[in-house]
Amino acid sequence: MESNPKIPAHVGLIMDGNGRWAKKRLMPRSFGHKAGMNAMIELADDAADMGIKYLTVYTLSTENFARPAEELEGLFNLIRGYFTSNVKKLYKRGAAVKVIGDLSVLPQDVQALLQDGENGSPKGASFTLVFAINYGARTEILRAVNKAAESGKKLDFAQFESLLYTSGIPDPDLIIRTGGEKRLSNFLMYQAAYAELYFTDVLFPDFDKKEFEKAVEEYSRRERRFGKL
Ligand code: IPE
Ligand code: IPE
Ligand code: MG
Repeated sequence: MESNPKIPAHVGLIMDGNGRWAKKRLMPRSFGHKAGMNAMIELADDAADMGIKYLTVYTLSTENFARPAEELEGLFNLIRGYFTSNVKKLYKRGAAVKVIGDLSVLPQDVQALLQDGENGSPKGASFTLVFAINYGARTEILRAVNKAAESGKKLDFAQFESLLYTSGIPDPDLIIRTGGEKRLSNFLMYQAAYAELYFTDVLFPDFDKKEFEKAVEEYSRRERRFGKL
């Protein structure tokens, strides 16, 4: 299939604002995370329908890992739920899942589910949903640097990039952050060198297909110069 330059091949999504969305409804933060998961499931389908090839969803940052155990357990339960049932719907449409981040500190059963999720993915998928879980760009870069040091060789860009979690995935063309903050919060800092950034005040559970299309539409009107004239 011809790739359309107006459609980003890879979209990064910083899914922020779940807690505030719940608070506005006088509900616990976990209620916001559940609503956020439901929104994300819809958006993955929308992304595939739009012809986007990779959607990377920032699910848990290395910094989020310091949140109270109760909130983390709720998030792990949502991840468990996704990888035991919803993932199969994605497979059915020929799409794959991939997970990036330091998974070694996650509960054992979650690690196993994530591994199964990747292993069960169809080969040659035209769409991949990439979950960033206990992901931090600084950890990712430092890990790659240490691997490079172990090899004792100087690396070129391609060799260095092959040591990042995102090896084999093109750089994000568009990064969307919901929830009103205008920062990357340690998301894909190396890969985002030339990403178009889109910020919206919409809280993540309210970020629906219409909002997603608005972001992609704005992307399609941006002029990407990559430093050239
Ligand atoms: C983003 O929502 C989801 C995660 C970080 C896990 P938040 O939980 O940060 O929601 P706010 O920013 O408190 O509203
Ligand atoms: C970024 O949101 C991380 C995820 C969406 C997973 P945060 O709520 O953790 O970001 P900060 O703390 O406001 O920068
Ligand atoms: Mg937040």
